[in-house]
Amino acid sequence: MKGIVFTGKQAEVVNGLEVRDPGPTEVRVKIVNAGLCHSDVSVINGTIPWPAPSVLGHEGAGIVDAIGSEVGSVKPGDHVVLTTLANCGLCEHCSAGKPTWCRKSLGNMSQPFTLDGEPAWNFAATSVFAEKTVVREIQCVKIEDDVPLSSACLIGCGVVTGVGAVFNRANVQRGQNVAVFGVGGIGLNVIQACRIAGASRIIALDMIAAKEPLALQFGATDFVDVSQTDGAAAVRELLPYSSKHVTGPMGAGGVDWSFECVGHPKVLEGAMSCLDWGGNCVIIGVPPPTAELSTLIGQFTHVDRGLMGSRYGSIRPHKDIPILVDLYRRGQLMLDELVSATYPIEDFDKALADLHDGKLARGVLAF
Ligand SMILES: NC(=O)c1ccc[n+]([C@@H]2O[C@H](COP(=O)([O-])OP(=O)(O)OC[C@H]3O[C@@H](n4cnc5c(N)ncnc54)[C@H](O)[C@@H]3O)[C@@H](O)[C@H]2O)c1
Ligand SMILES: [Zn+2]
Ligand SMILES: [Zn+2]
Repeated sequence: MKGIVFTGKQAEVVNGLEVRDPGPTEVRVKIVNAGLCHSDVSVINGTIPWPAPSVLGHEGAGIVDAIGSEVGSVKPGDHVVLTTLANCGLCEHCSAGKPTWCRKSLGNMSQPFTLDGEPAWNFAATSVFAEKTVVREIQCVKIEDDVPLSSACLIGCGVVTGVGAVFNRANVQRGQNVAVFGVGGIGLNVIQACRIAGASRIIALDMIAAKEPLALQFGATDFVDVSQTDGAAAVRELLPYSSKHVTGPMGAGGVDWSFECVGHPKVLEGAMSCLDWGGNCVIIGVPPPTAELSTLIGQFTHVDRGLMGSRYGSIRPHKDIPILVDLYRRGQLMLDELVSATYPIEDFDKALADLHDGKLARGVLAF
């Protein structure tokens, strides 16, 4: 079968993939659509170290093809969104509604594929850039047949990561002010969740000026082109301490929440330095494993500022994904609008180039 494989140097469209049969608690899924998240790019460019050969893709939806003997929640023909969380479902964290803390939910590297007869790794426990993949039953969230899979696939990473960071990790309140650094697939979902939460000012910042209409469409109230100006300073100008002073004592003025959706230490610095007293910065972007941070500690301790990481939107897939689908049906959560273009997998390089050129909210592959 066809798929997209990381060779250790680049991504290649291949024809010689096979995937094994599902084990007793596993499901084989025929992938219909898959979104291109920057984390796939980060494997290709070495930002996220990963072994090769491996089958990329971790944001996908499809149709159940075969089930293991102990699987009861889905059957062949069901439409499913896949999640990367192969959590155990049994430990204290899973029981407490924190599956992203489940010690068994990280990595889950295995070799369910062969490429031209040789073993090939999965990626993020999902590998949806293939015509078929094998995942654990807990990773399959059934959705209704009338939800288009080309939109539903984006729920599998971009939507849960961005929306979950706002609803679950941060808990943004009505009337609060927010800055979102990076208007890609993740940032747009942070923006629309802040809109749904009733945030007051939603300031979007990006290096690419052409992202402005998308940011405003998803709910941003302001856009800052950081190729022209310093992002944190611009946020402070938009939300000054008083009519006379942009910045007050201990950096007063600025936003209640900032979200770093790029994965760059310099961007994170800006996201931290535009916080008001009591403000919190949420790190979503993934820099290389050696990336470090330097900051004035007193700016945090003296006025209750905070810094938090956010993994996969602290999502509880079987509770939150039906809520997201419901918000989509009621016209509040924009999914169709996230799909800027669809590509046959043969055009994967074109999708990569369009993402790099800032042309995409999300690019979606069709199988
Ligand atoms: N924490 C998680 O669970 C999680 C999940 C998925 C993705 N991610 C990470 O989130 C990040 C964003 O992913 P994405 O799919 O939205 O990427 P994307 O490529 O769609 O978007 C990134 C955006 O950042 C902008 N940008 C680049 N440099 C910038 C700068 N200096 N200042 C402001 N904007 C800048 C780009 O123009 C682009 O619009 C990646 O690092 C990805 O690995 C994290
Ligand atoms: Zn992702
Ligand atoms: Zn667990």
